[in-house]
Amino acid sequence: MNLQISRSPIGLDGIPAAETVLSHVDGERGELIIAGERVGDLVRQTGFEGVTARLWSGGTGQPVAEATVRASLGAARQRAFARLPDLLGITRGLSIVDGVRAAIAGLRAENGLPHEATIVGALPVIAGALVQQSQGGDPIAPDPDVSHAADTLSMMLGRKPDAREVAALDAYFVTVCDHGMNASTFTTRVVASTQADLFAAVTAGYCALTGPLHGGAPEPVLEMLDAIGSSERIKPWVDAALARGERLMGFGHRIYRVRDPRADVLKGAIERLAGGGTDLPFAGEVEAYIRAALRRKNPDRPLDTNVEFFTAILLDALKIPRQAFTPVFAVARAAGWTAHAREQQRGGRLIRPSSAYIGPMPE
Ligand code: ACO
Repeated sequence: MNLQISRSPIGLDGIPAAETVLSHVDGERGELIIAGERVGDLVRQTGFEGVTARLWSGGTGQPVAEATVRASLGAARQRAFARLPDLLGITRGLSIVDGVRAAIAGLRAENGLPHEATIVGALPVIAGALVQQSQGGDPIAPDPDVSHAADTLSMMLGRKPDAREVAALDAYFVTVCDHGMNASTFTTRVVASTQADLFAAVTAGYCALTGPLHGGAPEPVLEMLDAIGSSERIKPWVDAALARGERLMGFGHRIYRVRDPRADVLKGAIERLAGGGTDLPFAGEVEAYIRAALRRKNPDRPLDTNVEFFTAILLDALKIPRQAFTPVFAVARAAGWTAHAREQQRGGRLIRPSSAYIGPMPE
């Protein structure tokens, strides 16, 4: 991937766009707090349904129980499966990432289900069906009685996952479910600030996620690891890419000035999953060389590993096709998006920044 982007002070760095109880990113200390807990502690304490209950409670200002989340997500997966013929109709010929974009836009209110459950429940059903379709298979029916992570894996892989695989995806879901005012959450909140509904807000948030500077990075991370190929090629490959002015995917962050805390949480999840079969030692060599090379290239700008580097390795170890990495990210982040949209609708003002006009003026 060859991305060369000019720098500009424009970009809303450090400007608060909303007040939130949902999550906080401390870029200097390398800390991420979600619903009052550090991300590493949260992964040890609870699973996706638990953290989603905390986020939805914060977003709506009403207590939402974990059991309610579990039941409503199970029901929402079934409703989405029943609607798949309609939802997939418009995705023909599109990639998995673009197909999910089109299908989310087709979601609508379901009787008896909160909109947030309809959305978060539908995402893995849509993404799983598109993965199966891309392999010439039929969609796999969801099971409302298993966890969201377990069902996501079943629908993606076409087989029942084992407990270690489920634990790894669940840890990933908790790790990436929310992250302050990132680009997709900001987008979601901008749309919700107009009092548009959650379906519109989340469709917009997903679109923002798909770019390679945000949630579209993990597939290019794997492409980079494939292109490097072996230990001897790390130095020449990385040096040449940096000399061409390219950005190395999975490194750098707008907020973190130290290592992204999610990287180590995911590295731990990969190690627990591994037992063998992952490319972690090679990836570790690549990571170490790139960190050092970026320090040499930009000594004044700390550029360290971000969440997407280990996301790529974790999702690859789970045998999720790389074309579905961004939609799987969206399954988890939709918990945060929906909570932020509710919080914005309840108390936020219309988000309407200004621009710096640099065009011609009339005489
Ligand atoms: N590789 C090489 N150089 C980089 C990288 C990188 N990954 N990231 C930043 N730089 C360099 C820039 O080229 C720039 O150099 P210069 O001063 O010589 O021109 C300098 O660091 C500062 O760059 P900015 O554009 O100001 O950094 P910004 O805060 O806007 O960028 C971003 C953050 C977009 C994540 C960037 O680091 C990047 O493009 N990373 C690669 C893509 C990626 O990993 N995306 C996933 C992010 S995590 C997430 O969204 C879930």
